[in-house]
Amino acid sequence: MSLDDVLARIDADLDGATDRLLDLLRIPSISTDPAYKAECDRAADWLVADLASIGVKAEKRPTPGHPMVVGHVDGDGPHVLFYGHYDVQPVDPLNLWDRDPFDPTIEETPAGKVIRGRGSSDDKGQLMTFVEACRAYHTVTGKLPCRITFFFEGEEESGSPSLVPFMKDNAEELKSDVALICDTGLFQSKTPSIVTMLRGLLGEQLTITGPDKDLHSGMYGGASINPIRVLSRIIAGLHDDQGRVTVPGFYDGVPDLPDEIMEQWRGLNFDHAGFLGDVGLSHPAGEQDRSALEMIWSRPTCEANGIIGGYTGEGFKTVLPSQASAKISFRLVGTQDPHAIRESFRAYVQSMLPPDCTAEFHGHGASPASQMSTDHPAFEAARGALSDEWPEDAAYTGCGGSIPIAGYFKQILGTDAMLIGFAKDNDQIHSPNEKYDLESFHKGTRSWARILDALAKKA
Ligand code: BES
Ligand code: MN
Ligand code: MN
Repeated sequence: MSLDDVLARIDADLDGATDRLLDLLRIPSISTDPAYKAECDRAADWLVADLASIGVKAEKRPTPGHPMVVGHVDGDGPHVLFYGHYDVQPVDPLNLWDRDPFDPTIEETPAGKVIRGRGSSDDKGQLMTFVEACRAYHTVTGKLPCRITFFFEGEEESGSPSLVPFMKDNAEELKSDVALICDTGLFQSKTPSIVTMLRGLLGEQLTITGPDKDLHSGMYGGASINPIRVLSRIIAGLHDDQGRVTVPGFYDGVPDLPDEIMEQWRGLNFDHAGFLGDVGLSHPAGEQDRSALEMIWSRPTCEANGIIGGYTGEGFKTVLPSQASAKISFRLVGTQDPHAIRESFRAYVQSMLPPDCTAEFHGHGASPASQMSTDHPAFEAARGALSDEWPEDAAYTGCGGSIPIAGYFKQILGTDAMLIGFAKDNDQIHSPNEKYDLESFHKGTRSWARILDALAKKA
């Protein structure tokens, strides 16, 4: 057999591959909402059955949360582990979707065909690019190109609470020569990229309580402290007027970008104006002495992602709420310590509280930034394979998002991880009308076939 036969099989089976993905997308596996627990289970079952269909012995493995799916297949050559997540984000606000998020379809758009539905890009569509590449090998050759472990998580979108214990408990089983992760994007939506830097993430939910009950704002207004006012002041105080985060010690561990990385990033010719222009913006809003690319790849952030308090329904209500709360996240870089920042943030909030107010905190996951070493020979092999598939050569890039497992592979298992993905900036992941370009799905699948071929030959 030749790689060309496998690629031809992928081309011929694109409709079949798309139908299978649509099937998986119909399962509403929203991991953060307990109402969808059974659906997460169903998605795991679907994957176990699908892996079985390509000769992989896979199992649903229980955790205190949603199950993992782990499958193994023997083979010659290197041992490769592939990771993806089958859980998805909630769909709200539902009214902004043009169709049912879990009744996916192929849509014609001026920019080509897209697969529309929750999880199409993040991460079911991407996960299936790898599975479909393996299926093509299985069909053409009766086996997979090397020894492969499949590792699918169902809690990535809700902070991966079971991941570290699971990896520690099953370390021997999950060790491999290299871990492949398909959960990132193309650079500027067209250049294949291998991500070498990911930001970490820390989440904090903060609730301010003032009066012990909701009050009429005419009877008490002026005399009673208003927790919304207190919360707003706290949030407003988190940045100075140069866009720097004010939490004490926040910049400890934030490194200067090495000159060679700075140089390499300059060579990428990032379209700064286009990046913001695509979403109706023109001014980078972070630290004023940094470029937009630095702001999203190499600088840390603090953002309020949600704010709740008082009456937010139709019409108007003159209420002084007893409580107001906010969801605040921090993106972390370098060696910033999520736990130290959590403590410092909480102390900052306490220091801002006026009399009669209390603050309650609820932590939501804390993962440090991760940096991938590109020394492992798989990196250059994959770069060559990606460059063969796409019109442009593959680039090493940063990524502003967070994928906690990327760092855990090295930390817990000693395995190098390689992040390759085919999402586009306009896929609207986590947002209404999420889509995955059919071309991403197709060329992504072909890319994995080429990468596996290159890795198998390396051994
Ligand atoms: N696939 C994303 C990470 C990502 C985001 C990659 C943007 C490339 C571009 C991943 O599923 C994700 O959403 N991660 C979360 C963190 C998680 C702990 C909820 C994130 O980055 O917010
Ligand atoms: Mn993802
Ligand atoms: Mn996500």
